[in-house]
Amino acid sequence: MSEDSNSAILDPISNVTEGCRLPVLMSNGEDWRKSGHSTLAEVISIKDLENKRLFYVHYIDYNKRLDEWVEEDRLDLRKIQYPRRDLASSTTGLNTPKKTLTGATNSRPSSPGLTTPDPITGPSVLAALQQKQQKIKKRKLDPNEEDDGRRASIGSLGGSIGSSIGSLGEIEIAPLTPLTPLTPLTPQQNVPRQTGSLATHSDDHAITRIKNMKMIELGKYRIKPWYFSPYPQEITSLDCIYICEFCLKYRKSRKCLERHLHKCPFKHPPGNEIYRKGSVSFFELDGRKNKLYAQNLCLLAKLFLDHKTLYYDTDPFLFYVMTECDMRGYHIVGYFSKEKESSEDYNVACILTLPPYQRKGYGKLLIEFSYELSKFEGKTGSPEKPLSDLGLLSYRSYWKQTILEILIALKPQEGQEKPQLTINEICEQTSIKKEDVISTLTNLELINYYRGQYILTLNKELVDSHRKIMEKRKVRIDSKYLHWTPKDWAKRGKW
Ligand code: ACO
Ligand code: ZN
Repeated sequence: MSEDSNSAILDPISNVTEGCRLPVLMSNGEDWRKSGHSTLAEVISIKDLENKRLFYVHYIDYNKRLDEWVEEDRLDLRKIQYPRRDLASSTTGLNTPKKTLTGATNSRPSSPGLTTPDPITGPSVLAALQQKQQKIKKRKLDPNEEDDGRRASIGSLGGSIGSSIGSLGEIEIAPLTPLTPLTPLTPQQNVPRQTGSLATHSDDHAITRIKNMKMIELGKYRIKPWYFSPYPQEITSLDCIYICEFCLKYRKSRKCLERHLHKCPFKHPPGNEIYRKGSVSFFELDGRKNKLYAQNLCLLAKLFLDHKTLYYDTDPFLFYVMTECDMRGYHIVGYFSKEKESSEDYNVACILTLPPYQRKGYGKLLIEFSYELSKFEGKTGSPEKPLSDLGLLSYRSYWKQTILEILIALKPQEGQEKPQLTINEICEQTSIKKEDVISTLTNLELINYYRGQYILTLNKELVDSHRKIMEKRKVRIDSKYLHWTPKDWAKRGKW
């Protein structure tokens, strides 16, 4: 027996290579992990640190934000699976099964499925990239591949619904399927964009798969990043970086930040305050005029956005930063960016609620604001695709609530037995794009065909549950407080 194979028997840990899969004990951060169950994970990277070997693992079927460095004692070496030779020679990441939104329904609610393409991991990224590009090319040549059946049926519905709303008695409405795609992605939508502050990424270098920042401090919060963001390498080794919550400049220590804060003249984001109601304000800023702030905002946002790659060209974008105001200033809560001109009718490019403010309704407030802007523009709009898992959940919930609000408030006109409304009228009133309206109604299973016409049927349970939800949604956007005139960027010639 050779020395090598001896050492492998004595030290099974040396058998663990990038691309291996084995059960790993997840850290105990969240409720669903408390049970201490081990979960199948793929080893993405290995490093030795202070005489310890560390393994960067991706939990199969979980969102990448849960990826982490673990020590040997968390690995279950008895059940190790080696990458298949043929695959190992191309890429380890190809072992990760394609996640679909529907498939992800089974995963836990805190880590729902992905809208992203397969993650690519391991050393041989180039080979995977080539394969991927070939796939995209193939899809480009064959526009009918994938989803088209669904699009067609949605399209035909769109043209013919002149719906009346009434009750057909007890019709069971199935709950919203949480993770089936509402707007199927066309092949073109999967192709990375070439411009933009945070453009949809293809399969970047393996390095971007690994979180590079341990912690950030922003105002009174310490926040653990979820994903890679291209901050300068010299600061990524620090235990924490310190960010000015007003101008978003970053510093390597609290002392440095304190020095900065003495000089920093800002107590709010740059740009114009275009909305204020109560303690909530929105600032509009131009990515060309406030480039440094916009770039720092994108760097910060990338820490929590997985499916976007950061570009430094912020010129084509406007940024809408939402703040909460107190005695100390206007604290950033979240933002969305918007192309000055969008050929695809996107009214949001990227949207983010910073983690300390998440799940409190701010995301929906940001979304509501984006549609309010579209109403002022007299257009319908939709968020840029692909959406993240949390983005999809939030948009679906917003669309459902907004459309139900209109349907429930609808009264029959004189001489009509039942209220009537067209899909186009819903679009006009909400600025939600037609596809999104139709897919929401379809997902809610509200559309029925009855005696030669389409009817929307609302049952009592749905109406009651909607009312309860809306009672909780106290903070809303009030258009009276929006001081904004849309600009026609196409006419200006220059951004
Ligand atoms: N697990 C399950 N459901 C969730 C979660 C979660 N972790 N987070 C939000 N939701 C649901 C909420 O329950 C709520 O639905 P409900 O009212 O029907 O219960 C809905 O999503 C919205 O909740 P909000 O509190 O209004 O939204 P939040 O402030 O948390 O912001 C957002 C949502 C912006 C998507 C946030 O999660 C985020 O910033 N994520 C990271 C960045 C990201 O993924 N952005 C979207 C990318 S897509 C794009 O940019 C176009
Ligand atoms: Zn500052």
